[in-house]
Amino acid sequence: MSDLRIAVLGVGLMGADHVARITSRISGARVAVVNDYVAEKAEQVAVGIPGCRAIADPLDAIADPDVDAVVLATPGPTHEKQLLACLEHRKPVLCEKPLTTDVDTSLEVVRREAELGTRLIQVGFMRRFDDEYAGLKALLDGGELGSPLVLHCVHRNPAVPDHFDSVMTVRDSLVHEVDVTRFLFGEEITSIQIVTPTTNPAAREGLFDPQIAIMRTAGGKHVDVELFVTTGVAYEVRTELVAEKGSAMIGLDVGLVRKSAPGTWGGTITPSFKERFGRAYDTEIQRWVDAVQSGGTTGIYTDGPTAWDGYAATAVCEAGVQALQSGQPVAVDMVDRASIPGA
Ligand SMILES: NC(=O)c1ccc[n+]([C@@H]2O[C@H](COP(=O)([O-])OP(=O)(O)OC[C@H]3O[C@@H](n4cnc5c(N)ncnc54)[C@H](O)[C@@H]3O)[C@@H](O)[C@H]2O)c1
Repeated sequence: MSDLRIAVLGVGLMGADHVARITSRISGARVAVVNDYVAEKAEQVAVGIPGCRAIADPLDAIADPDVDAVVLATPGPTHEKQLLACLEHRKPVLCEKPLTTDVDTSLEVVRREAELGTRLIQVGFMRRFDDEYAGLKALLDGGELGSPLVLHCVHRNPAVPDHFDSVMTVRDSLVHEVDVTRFLFGEEITSIQIVTPTTNPAAREGLFDPQIAIMRTAGGKHVDVELFVTTGVAYEVRTELVAEKGSAMIGLDVGLVRKSAPGTWGGTITPSFKERFGRAYDTEIQRWVDAVQSGGTTGIYTDGPTAWDGYAATAVCEAGVQALQSGQPVAVDMVDRASIPGA
C-alpha cells in the first residue's frame, strides 16, 4: 500500500509537532503538503521534507489531488470552514480540538458528516490514546471495580501566556477532562458549576486561578476538576476514579524514583503536555493513519473521538463558560444524538 499523502494545515506549535512525528515516527504516511496563514512558515517546513510542497491557500491545500487526508492544526475559529471543505472533498481529517468554537457550528459539522453516511472526522482528544488512560478504561470496562461513582481530576500548568484568560481555562484546559469523563463513563455530562476560590497571587490580574469545576453526568456520577494554570511547578495531570468496589489512580509521576545522600528521595515531573502526552500523540496519529488506509473497505476513516465527541465537548464548555460567569450550576444544552441518524 502506498503512503498516505497528508496535508498539515497550520504549522505552529501542534502542527509542527505533527509534521515531525509523521515524518520521523509514523509508518504508512508522509507529509505531502503544508499550509500556514504565514506563508513563509509553511515554506520553511516544506523545504526540509522530501516531496513536500507549501500551498498558500488552506482550501486549495485540502482540495489538492495529491492530498489523501488532512491534519488540521489551525486555531479553533478557522476549523468550521476547513472541516466543511474536507467533507466536501471527502477527505478524512484529524482535527485538533476544538471541533469548532461554538455549539451551533459544531452541530452543523456533525449533521453534514452524518448526511454523507461515512465517518471522515476525528477530533484530537489525545488522552484516549495515553497508556494510563487506556489502562484505566480497560480496568473499568473489565468490571472488577464495579460501577464508577466519582472522578477526581487535577489539571495543573506551571505557567500560561499573557493572553490566557479565565474562559480559556474552561475551553482549553477543562475540555480535556470533559472528554476524559465522557470516554471513561460513556455518558453525557448534563450540568456543570465552576467555583473560583482565592486567586493565586502569581496569576495575571483578572485570571481566576485556580478554578474548581463540578460536573454531573446523565447517570448521576460526580466529577470534580481542579484547574490551576499558574503553579510555577510543572505539568501535572492526575485522575482518581472511585467505584463501588475500589478506586484507581493515574498520573502519579512515579517513573524513576531516586534516593540519594543526605537522605532524600524523589523523581521528576514532565514540564509540559508535549512530554507527558508525546507517546499518546504518536499512537493517535498512527492509529488514525491506519484507519484512513483501511477506510476504503470499512467506510470508516477514524479510530478515535468523533465529530459528535467534539460537539459534546463544545456544548459542555459553553455551559462551563456560563457557569464561570454566574457561579451557579448550568444545564448542558445538547440535542438528542438519536435525532441525527449516523451521528
Ligand atoms: N491536543 C492538544 O493537547 C492540543 C495542545 C495545544 C493546541 N491544540 C490545538 O491545536 C490547534 C493549534 O494550536 P497551536 O497551539 O499549535 O497554535 P499556534 O498558534 O502555535 O499555531 C497555529 C498556526 O496556524 C496558523 N494559522 C492561523 N490561521 C490559519 C488559517 N486560517 N489557515 C492556516 N493556518 C493558519 C498560524 O499562523 C500558526 O502557525 C488549536 O486548535 C489548539 O486548540 C491541541
